[in-house]
Amino acid sequence: MSAPTREIILGVGGGIAAYKACDLLRRLQDSDFAVTVVPTPSSLNFVGKATWEALSGRKVTSEVWEDVELVRHISLAKDAQAIIIAPATADLIARVAAGRADDLLTNLILASTVPILIVPAMHTAMWENSATQSNVVTLRNRGIDVMEPADGALTSGDIGKGRFPDTATIIERFTSTTLRAKDLTGKKVLVSAGGTREPIDPVRFIGNRSTGIQGIAIAEKARERGADITLVLANSDLPTHPEIKRIDVQSVAELSNELSKEFSHCDFLFMTAAVSDVRPSQVSAEKIKKDNLDQLAFVQNQDVIATLTANKLQQCVIAFAAETGENNLAEAQAKMIRKGADLIYLNNVSDGAIFGSAYTSGSIIDKSGILQSFTNITKESLADSLINHAIIQRNKLG
Ligand code: CTP
Repeated sequence: MSAPTREIILGVGGGIAAYKACDLLRRLQDSDFAVTVVPTPSSLNFVGKATWEALSGRKVTSEVWEDVELVRHISLAKDAQAIIIAPATADLIARVAAGRADDLLTNLILASTVPILIVPAMHTAMWENSATQSNVVTLRNRGIDVMEPADGALTSGDIGKGRFPDTATIIERFTSTTLRAKDLTGKKVLVSAGGTREPIDPVRFIGNRSTGIQGIAIAEKARERGADITLVLANSDLPTHPEIKRIDVQSVAELSNELSKEFSHCDFLFMTAAVSDVRPSQVSAEKIKKDNLDQLAFVQNQDVIATLTANKLQQCVIAFAAETGENNLAEAQAKMIRKGADLIYLNNVSDGAIFGSAYTSGSIIDKSGILQSFTNITKESLADSLINHAIIQRNKLG
């Protein structure tokens, strides 16, 4: 079984809806999130630490004065890809809006730059109070996603707006809006895709079966998640979104040239292109007669990715390896290190089934081992998982 891909924090405020956050935690885990719970001290009056520790399987602290040596407000802020605050009381909303840092949760919110979803739950009068409403406007202007509470029966016996929304509605909002909207905003993502062609003569070339589908899926998913994308695409007729800066190339030299112009100022490089290892030592101006074809001589092309990573700073680089044999972890890791990459996707291409297909099977690997394995998932779905792992890796690079 593979580990969940997305590390998030569930901040729990001191309202009676805290008990509903137990179900939210469970459903987030079902949706492949690894969740650390950070309750406010007052919320522990409703749901205690033992419940959160049992449900999350992780240690739970609520004050900066616990585990001081671990500097948890900074380490949690670094590891998390997003924060959900549910339920958020009027007081917690006010504290976040004011930039206060008087417990662990508000400290780590201040220390974090990741997407935040706030799920308010309180009495209608408190929600509608102009103090709360102006705090909500402040938070939304700061890019924080604040949900509207649901309508219905309240704990006080009144009926009105202020209920904790359904778990499914919260998760839908979190995955479709909070995460998508923001986690690559301001990031530059460079993607190479397709397969290079090395001319032999005016008619023939050395090529490969790569179509560009996987790289285009990564470019598209990264665009949806707010990134600024440059796609260097070798020999593919597939359409791409107008917001993606697309540079069409043919040969390894062109691919390398375009990537080297962009690499120094990118945050991520996804090197999905299938690069020809060799080219003819001479390109013939005339069509070569068939009797002379067996005299073709080749020279090795440069290793494009290794050339780029020789000047790597904080870029997170993801290499791709297409193998036909049994997945060999050690070989893939050796290749990743040789190429100066941070992650490698080991793609099982037995029977050539993957080329041109909408599906893929393989494993995402880093220097510690296999992070996640997939069998026949869509290339879009792999793109999202690769981006998730790349973001974690990039955060570690500083
Ligand atoms: N790659 C590259 N330049 C090359 C060959 C490959 O940048 N001349 C990149 C590919 O885009 C891919 C990664 O390196 O991200 C691994 O490609 P692969 O063909 O498996 O690498 P090779 O070094 O050619 O490995 P092998 O010796 O197994 O053929």
